[in-house]
Amino acid sequence: MENKVFTSPKKKGRIAVLLSGRGSNFMAIHDAILAGKINAEIVLVFSNKKDARGLQIAKERGLETLFLDPKDFPSREEYDKRIVEELKKRDVDLVCLAGYMRILTPYFVNQYRNRIMNIHPALLPSFPGLHAQKQALDYGVKFSGATVHFVTEEVDAGPIIIQAVVPVFQYDTEETLSARILEQEHKIYPEAIKLFFEGKLEVRGRKVYIRE
Ligand code: GAR
Repeated sequence: MENKVFTSPKKKGRIAVLLSGRGSNFMAIHDAILAGKINAEIVLVFSNKKDARGLQIAKERGLETLFLDPKDFPSREEYDKRIVEELKKRDVDLVCLAGYMRILTPYFVNQYRNRIMNIHPALLPSFPGLHAQKQALDYGVKFSGATVHFVTEEVDAGPIIIQAVVPVFQYDTEETLSARILEQEHKIYPEAIKLFFEGKLEVRGRKVYIRE
C-alpha cells in the first residue's frame, strides 16, 4: 500500500455529494462549479436524512437528489452497497462527504479508494469525531481550523489534502468558532476538488503531494 501511488485524473469530473444536514459546504462546491472554478458537475446529491436542508437546496438548484432510509436496510453494509450501486450507475469519479454523519463501511471505502473526500472542522489529527469545534474550545487550544482529507476505513484519519488554520479567541463560543471555521471550509473544500480534477493530487502512503 505504501508503494502504490495514486494520481487524480485530469478530466471533467462527475461528483456525488453526500450530506445529512444544512448543506453549506455542498453549496460552496456547487457555487465554485457554477463560477467555472472547478472542472466538474454534480451528478447526485444523496442523503440519509429525508428532511436534510441540503437536499432541499439541491432540488431547488435543479440537481438530481436521492434519499435512502437506513431503516429499510438490514445492515450498514447493505445500505452502502446500494449507495455504491447508485454512484456506479452515474459514473461518479469523486464522492464528496459534506456533513454526512454516517461512517462509511470498508466496502464503500474500497470501491472508491482515493476518490472519497471529507471536510472536518478541526486540524486533524486533533479532535476527530463529533463536535470538533467544542472539543477544541474545551481543550483550550489557541488555533484550530478545517481539514479536507481522503477517506479511509479509519474515521477522520485519511491522507490530508488541505488544511486552514483559524485562531481561537478567549471569548469564543461554539457558535462563533464554528462560524469562523466554516468560512474556511467553504474555501478549502472547493480548492481541493479543483486540484483533484486538474490531475494535481498525488497520494503516496498517507501523504498527499500537490503537483506543480
Ligand atoms: C461542517 O462544519 C463539516 O465540517 C462538519 O459538519 C458541518 C456540515 O455543515 N462535518 C463533520 O463534523 C464531519 N465529522 P454543512 O452541512 O453546512 O456543510
